[in-house]
Amino acid sequence: MKFENPAISLQNVTKTFGEHTVLNNLNFDIPKNKITTILGFSGAGKSTLLKHILGVIKPTSGKVIVLGQDLAELDEYQKREFRRNFGMLFQYAALFDSMTTIENVAFPLKEFSKLTLSEISEKSQHLLTAVGLKSESFNKLPSELSGGMRKRVGLARALALSPHIMLYDEPTTGLDPITTKMVNDLIVETAEVNKENGLTTVIISHDVRATLEISDYVAFLDRGRIVEYLPVDQFKKSEHPLVKEFLRL
Ligand SMILES: Nc1ncnc2c1ncn2[C@@H]1O[C@H](COP(=O)(O)OP(=O)(O)O)[C@@H](O)[C@H]1O
Ligand SMILES: [Mg+2]
Repeated sequence: MKFENPAISLQNVTKTFGEHTVLNNLNFDIPKNKITTILGFSGAGKSTLLKHILGVIKPTSGKVIVLGQDLAELDEYQKREFRRNFGMLFQYAALFDSMTTIENVAFPLKEFSKLTLSEISEKSQHLLTAVGLKSESFNKLPSELSGGMRKRVGLARALALSPHIMLYDEPTTGLDPITTKMVNDLIVETAEVNKENGLTTVIISHDVRATLEISDYVAFLDRGRIVEYLPVDQFKKSEHPLVKEFLRL
């Protein structure tokens, strides 16, 4: 699918490690201000694709263009700066274990913003409240929180610098159904609340059921190629044999 002024555009992207082709001449545009999910079996190349979007690894050939910027034109320093456009929520939230909830959220603000300490404190509390955390949790350590609450803290931290693109890597994998629903609701709510500033959501997952409920567009990656890419309602009716197999799981 082609989009006018996409958030992310991969153009003829190939990545090889030695003999092994992991991304195979990908042409893939992700639209702005929508929720797009990339599905695929383990080993399909999903994480490798994500690292290209973040500019952590370079394609062997082809271009990666994010928010109109060709990543190949940035040096390492500029790339790190550019990464502030991204918020990232990892599978296990990846919080700093020795920092409290509020310190985790304040961390990127201390590192990257010019806010005063009291402004940082106020903003961190606001971010945590917005993702549904109560003040009694603000001074707890990650180990004292449930899995669902850790996700909320991770999300608040990812949103601290007002990213234009939120990336979720396996956000619901390994969660119980109730926490899965909570995380899904949180993803949708985050996308809605931040729509005016422009927030593009990209989800990488192999949890079909959870992601189909909330996506606008779904792409299926198989052996480094996008073999299906459709609006969610059409994706559910895909006749592609691999997609059908995947949807049955
Ligand atoms: N740095 C690397 N060096 C060599 N092979 C890699 C490297 N990173 C990933 N691969 C290979 O690329 C393939 C896709 O991996 P990955 O992107 O992690 O898939 P997924 O996230 O869909 O499970 C796998 O076969 C993996 O072994
Ligand atoms: Mg992966």
